[in-house]
Amino acid sequence: MRHLIAGNWKMNGLKSSLGEVTRLKELLAANTANADVLICPPFTLISDLAKEANGTTIMCGAQDCHTAVSGAHTGDVSAEMLKEAGAMFIIVGHSERRADHGETTALVKQKAEAAQDAALTPIICVGETREERELGNAAAVVSAQLSGSLPEDTNYVVAYEPVWAIGTGLVPSLDDIREIHALVREKTTPDTRLLYGGSVKPANAAEILAIENVNGALVGGASLKADDFYGIIQAV
Ligand code: PGA
Repeated sequence: MRHLIAGNWKMNGLKSSLGEVTRLKELLAANTANADVLICPPFTLISDLAKEANGTTIMCGAQDCHTAVSGAHTGDVSAEMLKEAGAMFIIVGHSERRADHGETTALVKQKAEAAQDAALTPIICVGETREERELGNAAAVVSAQLSGSLPEDTNYVVAYEPVWAIGTGLVPSLDDIREIHALVREKTTPDTRLLYGGSVKPANAAEILAIENVNGALVGGASLKADDFYGIIQAV
């Protein structure tokens, strides 16, 4: 299975940040990547980024969507709108959305279905908190999140992102990643791409990406700089 290296810019980036995409294009033109490459910028940059990436292997995605196609939902954006702007993937259920916006597992499933209805691929995020891991509940928590949030249609990507590893520089042991990815594989299909996310950097990418059932990475901080992101792509 071809790896997917997905960048999540979160609430970072102005038009000037598109220079990083220009730089990544140059790096990828010089050395063919052995992976699919995706960048999910804030909503405001999707159409500009999609234009900048046009004709290259870099794909554009979004970080969230509403469950409805249109309607009276002030401040929200639908999957169809994101598709028109140039998105091919939508991250749903990121732990920051679950925590900051109280998103439930059931809502995450509806968002994943909304993305699929617009012919986009959802990247469904799951992962335990530090407390849940310390109590020995990581597998049970991830299992419950998967049961509640995976749609019938298997056109999706799953990202395992331990909440305590996001933006902290902390990473689970390779055995712990292997264990959770094996569990996610059992609950999905042999063809589902399973990403690991949480403090992935050029320095640790190769060992993480070589773990069985890890088919790519969801990268936050290290996706903001083209050279770092390229280092992770090259680690595949
Ligand atoms: P990080 O974020 O790479 O900065 O830890 C990952 C994510 O939240 O997707």
